[in-house]
Amino acid sequence: MFLALSLATIFKTSIAIAIGYFLCQCGYNVLFHPLRHYPGPKLWAMTRIPYTCMFLSGKAHIRILEFHKQYGPVVRIAPEFLSMSHEDAMKETRDHRKDGKALLMKEPIHHADLQKTLFGATRDDHTRYRRAVAHGFSAKSMQDQQPLIQTYISMLMRRLREQCDGGSTALDMVKWFNYATFDVIGDLSFGESFGCLENSDYHPWVALIFDVVKDLTWRLSMKRYTLLAPLLKYLIPKQLSRRFEEHSELSRAKLQKRLATLTDRPDFIGSMIKARSKSENSISLSEIETVAAQLIIAGSETTATTLSATTYYLTRHPHVLATLCAEVRSSFSSEKEINLFNVQNLRYMMAVINESMRMYPATPGGQPRQVDESGAMILGQYVPGGTKIEIWQWALYHNPRCFTRPDDFIPERWLDDPHFAADKKDAFQPFSVGPRSCIGRNLAYAEMHLIIARLVWNFDIRLAQGSDDWDQRSNVLLLWEKPGLYISLEPREISS
Ligand code: HEM
Repeated sequence: MFLALSLATIFKTSIAIAIGYFLCQCGYNVLFHPLRHYPGPKLWAMTRIPYTCMFLSGKAHIRILEFHKQYGPVVRIAPEFLSMSHEDAMKETRDHRKDGKALLMKEPIHHADLQKTLFGATRDDHTRYRRAVAHGFSAKSMQDQQPLIQTYISMLMRRLREQCDGGSTALDMVKWFNYATFDVIGDLSFGESFGCLENSDYHPWVALIFDVVKDLTWRLSMKRYTLLAPLLKYLIPKQLSRRFEEHSELSRAKLQKRLATLTDRPDFIGSMIKARSKSENSISLSEIETVAAQLIIAGSETTATTLSATTYYLTRHPHVLATLCAEVRSSFSSEKEINLFNVQNLRYMMAVINESMRMYPATPGGQPRQVDESGAMILGQYVPGGTKIEIWQWALYHNPRCFTRPDDFIPERWLDDPHFAADKKDAFQPFSVGPRSCIGRNLAYAEMHLIIARLVWNFDIRLAQGSDDWDQRSNVLLLWEKPGLYISLEPREISS
């Protein structure tokens, strides 16, 4: 009896202490925290809970934009987080420092599970990894990779012709673009494709990757609650946690297989193996494995997302589609002429792809950075050390402060149309800037140009019923969670 009573008392006292601590923390965050002077909703400044709920809701990008419209370019969105929506924010937080490294470091909690990848590496490891893999992304490597990329695009076109039933069956292009980009990146990373195009289906590993991204979204959110983290992790759906382990095991197996094949392929593993022989670039086999596994996610889903968005906006805007078709179909006399060099002359196509990335950026989220202990001057204000800074690309590109008619799809804004002279074009940095910007930018543009050019060369495309509000029905969970995008493809009679 005495024991039961004291246990109950201990329990109640602990709860009271926890609540008291929480309330004191909330009070401190609003009244005394170094970020107290920044504008933003008070509840969000008090505790991280509203931020976490927003992050997991899939609609954070929309909420962040509303905050910026209400409070201005810099908003406090959690006790120690600022969101910036300003044309200079990317440069002032992510560009090169004098020593060549990035101005602000990657926010440690957000990147904790990714420390052995380019994304999450510390500044020193990052320099080592980036040097090791850089050769695989050089102009010369891209030249050498072109035949391989074109082979997969040809297979994509063949499959689409087979599956579209002369135009009567609408196809889910999110899937088909994923099949193509995963096959390309699988081949460039591990020396073999995933066979998605061959089998017209997701390879189990590719399907797994989507769960891994969801698992990461949950992990990141829970990790921020230091005291409760051990309990909160049970909230993460179990099947998602297991997926992370499975992903690592499969990467290991793929690497072993590639290493056993002693070929001189122009792929990313080849680049890293060569770098291993130079001592200043030393990179261990386990690091090669994690870097390569990351390339699969970074290099496929993002490109497939942009291809899906481009196709969606084109089919929603028939006059834009008609102009693009005219450009592509008049620039070549046969499909064989559509190559890496020639597509760079398609000015309207470039504007269409950029406008699609503005409307629906492949990395829509905040990609947080952290200010060094000494603090930093950003956008003309002193920001205290330890502050975390997010720049939500979607919110920035839809902000009327930066773009005229921000919610309208108008490629002409990238073609010197005077109506858009006031657009703050510097705000548009879909691949980020500085030493941690996208290493795959040229590869991404190459794939996107070639695929869209060959798609409209081969087919007349039309949005099928039910996909009208595809962008509105998409959610952001680190990357986009996209619904099916159904497109009718009518094969054109052409000489190849
Ligand atoms: C439309 C397509 C793509 C977009 C919009 C995109 C965007 C980005 C962005 C914004 C970052 C910076 C992330 C951050 O600051 O935290 C990034 C990094 C990265 N991207 Fe891409 N990306 C695309 C395609 C690719 C491709 C095809 C690859 C090839 C494998 C790739 C590989 C990477 C890697 C490895 C990083 C990390 C770079 C580093 O930290 O040094 N991306 N990407």
